[in-house]
Amino acid sequence: MTERIALYPGSFDPLTNGHLDILSRARRLADRVVVAILENDAKTPLFTVSERIAMIHEIVGDDPATPVRSFSGLLVDFAKEVGATLIVRGLRAVSDYEYELQMALMNRRLTPSIETVFLMAKEEYSYVSSRLVKEVARLGGDVTGLVPEAIRLRLVERVGKELLVEKSKVKGRT
Ligand code: PNS
Repeated sequence: MTERIALYPGSFDPLTNGHLDILSRARRLADRVVVAILENDAKTPLFTVSERIAMIHEIVGDDPATPVRSFSGLLVDFAKEVGATLIVRGLRAVSDYEYELQMALMNRRLTPSIETVFLMAKEEYSYVSSRLVKEVARLGGDVTGLVPEAIRLRLVERVGKELLVEKSKVKGRT
């Protein structure tokens, strides 16, 4: 029997508990779920791609069923490269729908043989996004329970460093 491979793409800057929940659900649909981190120079990420790969590895372990890779270019091309026939995306609120629909239809137009499937995370994660988690952490809020503890610690450390850099820039100007 051929192995069913799914691709779970995203920015994962950083990985949240919502992402983890989607990943474990995706594991039930496929023999292997490749976590695919987009290398995007246009966005200014908090963590580099290699830091994100290392952090996700730390959380999911070195499981051959959940390899972690980065990619650039078209998602469907990367899907073909790894032999994936499914693209998994998490869907939270209705607000996600329009963007996700556009991506799914564009990807289908590019490669009709690859199917996008949407999965819903646990209700308790329905409002959790990497963007909001970073914002809360930057403003000194507690993100415990929203991201894995190891990632929370890295997050707190990184936003603390950002603050120090900002302060030294202000100091340099005065
Ligand atoms: O977590 P994100 O940032 O919403 O993930 C977006 C991602 C990486 C899935 C999307 O930007 C993507 O697939 N980019 C690759 C470029 C591509 O294939 N574009 C055309 C199809 S929409």
